[in-house]
Amino acid sequence: MSSSDPARTAIRRPRSRSATLEITIYGCGPDEAVLFRELAPQYGVLPKITEAPVSEATIELAFGNRCISVGHKTKITNSTLLALSRIGVGYISTRSIGYNHLDPRFAESVGITVENVTYSPDSVADYTLMLILMAVRQAKAMVRRTDLHDYRLNDVRGRELRDLTVGVIGTGRIGAAVIDRLHGFGGRILAYDLRPKIAADYVPLDELLQQSDLITLHTPLTPDTHHLLGRHEFERLKPGALVINTGRGALLDTEALHAALISGRVSGAALDVLEGEEGIFYIDHRDTAIDNELLPRLQALPNVLISPHTAYYTDHALRDTVENSMINCRQFESRSQHD
Ligand code: NAI
Repeated sequence: MSSSDPARTAIRRPRSRSATLEITIYGCGPDEAVLFRELAPQYGVLPKITEAPVSEATIELAFGNRCISVGHKTKITNSTLLALSRIGVGYISTRSIGYNHLDPRFAESVGITVENVTYSPDSVADYTLMLILMAVRQAKAMVRRTDLHDYRLNDVRGRELRDLTVGVIGTGRIGAAVIDRLHGFGGRILAYDLRPKIAADYVPLDELLQQSDLITLHTPLTPDTHHLLGRHEFERLKPGALVINTGRGALLDTEALHAALISGRVSGAALDVLEGEEGIFYIDHRDTAIDNELLPRLQALPNVLISPHTAYYTDHALRDTVENSMINCRQFESRSQHD
């Protein structure tokens, strides 16, 4: 399975059911566990649920299972993939759209098929629109000030989306859903994608950077898109542009973004994903030090809004994810039986 061309699975209930299929569900939070237990009987699945992420230390939990399901919150090393292959795991369903927490090509080379699960792009598209509006209306500065009982309107004058040009980078499922929503606000929309696929005003990346008041990122993270926006690109931006990222942290060179925010080249950012978020996001760090020097520097800025990789997290998307994880495994098993 290539990371740029992931197979997508629509929700379809299997027609006939063979013997119960046991699947180890790694990195499974309590919210997902409730859904796995509720839905598993419909799919003839016996979920072996653990909150522990898959690693060489937890591999014994998968003994006897050909299929496992993993989350996106922890990186899976190649040595873990190799160890999984040695105990007979042939299929990994990742409960995410992105693949960047593991190497699907390496997995394939050791005989493990990796597939993602699909869920409604609406969860991330809605969230992106929220971040866009919050950035345009300077919501963080306004709320911060109000929380301190400073109710003046100093420095929080917003702009209206109908007056702005929004540049959408990546027009796949999520980018297209963001564009659909943006149409409702008026304003100009520019698009950039390696493979244009929807009716949109596509322009070269450089033109999009120079003309957009706000840029929103929706490509996968691959070697080609790593630091898609770096120092050079920030210099090409329209002065005072806003940057929104609900894609993956490393699409942005975060150090260069910080410099552009300090210089004023970028007037604000809303980031749901962050370079080096692994081991920080999804964990209560109130009483422990954070191993990321840039995060507190960004959080200190009144014009930078950070959320912990939350855009996907809705009841609808979670249910789709759990259901499709079991469908993926069932389909793999039935393909294997016919080979
Ligand atoms: P998709 O595969 O439908 O669309 C990605 C688009 O990016 C495609 O149109 C592709 O042609 C384009 N693209 C790929 N490489 C490119 C490049 N070098 N330059 C320009 N365009 C390029 O993916 P989808 O479902 O829209 O998701 C996009 C990304 O959003 C995911 O890969 C994932 O990293 C991120 N995501 C974030 C979530 C969150 O909670 N914050 C949740 C779900 C996904």
